[in-house]
Amino acid sequence: MAAIRQTRMIGCADPQTTDNGANHTMLIRPFRPDDLPILKRITVAAFDGVSIDQGIQELFGPIHGYDWQWRKARHLDEDVTRDPSGIFVAEIDGRIIGGITTWQDREAGIGHIPNLALEADCRGQGLGRKLIEFALQHFRESGLTHAKIETLVQNAVGEHLYTSLGFREVARQIHFVAELS
Ligand SMILES: CC(C)(COP(=O)(O)OP(=O)(O)OC[C@H]1O[C@@H](n2cnc3c(N)ncnc32)[C@H](O)[C@@H]1OP(=O)(O)O)[C@@H](O)C(=O)NCCC(=O)NCCS
Repeated sequence: MAAIRQTRMIGCADPQTTDNGANHTMLIRPFRPDDLPILKRITVAAFDGVSIDQGIQELFGPIHGYDWQWRKARHLDEDVTRDPSGIFVAEIDGRIIGGITTWQDREAGIGHIPNLALEADCRGQGLGRKLIEFALQHFRESGLTHAKIETLVQNAVGEHLYTSLGFREVARQIHFVAELS
C-alpha cells in the first residue's frame, strides 16, 4: 500500500473553518470503497467542459436514457474494478476534495492515469500537481519506467500541468460517434 503523504495548504480549508486554510494540510491516502460516491460527484462536476461524454451528449442528446454525468461516473466504477489499490483520495480536515485514479501495465512498464479531479475551490493551488507527483512516485515504486495521461485540447490547465511535469505530447486523437439508423 502506498504511503500516506501530506502537503501543507495555503487555502481550500474546510468551509466550516474561519481561517484562510494556512493551518490545514492536504492528505493523500489510499481509496476506500465508501469514498466512491463522493469521488464520482467531484469527478463529474470537475469534468464539466472537459468531457468526451459531454461532447457526445451535445451532439446526440442523452443516449439509451443516460446522460453524460452517468457515463462519466461509470468511468470511476471501471477504475475501481481495474485497480482499487491504484486510486488515491485527497482530503483536508477529513473533507474529501478530490482524487486520482491509476492502473499499471507492468509488462509494458507503463502506468496510466485515467482520472484526476479536484473540487473547484481547491484548484489552482498546486494540489493537482501534488496528486500527479504522488501517482508518479507510486509508479516508480512499482518498478514502472513511464507514465501516460490524456487530456482534451480544450483543457488548457491539463496541457500546461502535464507538460510542466515532464509529460511529452506523442499524438492527438479524434473521437467520432455515429448514430445507428
Ligand atoms: C486538472 C486539475 C486536477 C489540476 O489541479 P489544480 O490543483 O488546479 O492544478 P495545479 O494548481 O497543481 O496546477 C495548475 C497549473 O495550470 C496553470 N493554469 C491555470 N489556469 C490555466 C490556463 N487557463 N491555461 C494554462 N495553464 C493554466 C497554473 O498556473 C498551474 O501551473 P503552474 O504550477 O506552472 O503555475 C484541476 O484543475 C481539475 O480538477 N480540473 C477539472 C478536471 C480536469 O480537467 N481533470 C483532468 C482531465 S485530463
